[in-house]
Amino acid sequence: MKKRIIAGNWKMNQTKDTAYAMLRGLADFCASNDIPSDVEMVVCPPYPYLSLAVDTLKDSPVKVGAQNCSHESNGAFTGEVSSAMLADLGVSHVILGHSERRKYFKESDSLVLKKTRKAMSAGLQVILCVGEELAVREDEGQYLFVKNQLKDSAFLLSSANLKNLIVAYEPIWAIGTGKTATPEQANEMHYYIRDQFAENFDQPSANELSILYGGSCKPANAADLFAQVNVDGGLIGGASLTAENFTGIIDKTFPA
Ligand code: PGA
Repeated sequence: MKKRIIAGNWKMNQTKDTAYAMLRGLADFCASNDIPSDVEMVVCPPYPYLSLAVDTLKDSPVKVGAQNCSHESNGAFTGEVSSAMLADLGVSHVILGHSERRKYFKESDSLVLKKTRKAMSAGLQVILCVGEELAVREDEGQYLFVKNQLKDSAFLLSSANLKNLIVAYEPIWAIGTGKTATPEQANEMHYYIRDQFAENFDQPSANELSILYGGSCKPANAADLFAQVNVDGGLIGGASLTAENFTGIIDKTFPA
């Protein structure tokens, strides 16, 4: 069954203390609320806090993800972290292809594909990010842009890999800007992405795919976004840093 997923991307934020406070608050929230069984929660801290997250959340349903991993298996790659190491720590998810990695670290679709394959072979679930810049949307080129990103990454996976894939549509103009895509804009793009998966794989697999929205999602706008039929949850940046905001978003997945 298709899952609704709320994933938090801390980016390069938090200290050990603020990280623990957020994780503890989240674990306590889960202990005192009935989370719907189709809702999956994931927290993606920076590498140094992954073990803290795995330990603090071990009795909760919340999963732990990383924000990146190497496309190599092991060896002389100073500063890199392999997907097998992540799995070894108890990490179950990894965000790949985030626009900040594409922009600041020049990650291409083909590198994202290599990382995705490596992560999946280590048993990780991949949250693959796509999304266009403002200028592309202003030219109405967003569909072709996203299609091309997927053509050179996700569409080259095998259909067996799809059960380990989650797609996050994150329009770059909405990331960290306070400018959210309207629920209709998100739904239209998610519908298009699902349709493309149906064309490149098959309709049942496309129907099972969780497609998350990311970009200035917060407790105040989450309900409207998640009410859209093709929006299966969110990849949350700024609002995932405190338990209060993150649980405020999870709360919006509960029946009213
Ligand atoms: P934001 O970031 O929620 O702070 O806009 C989302 C993301 O980059 O994943």
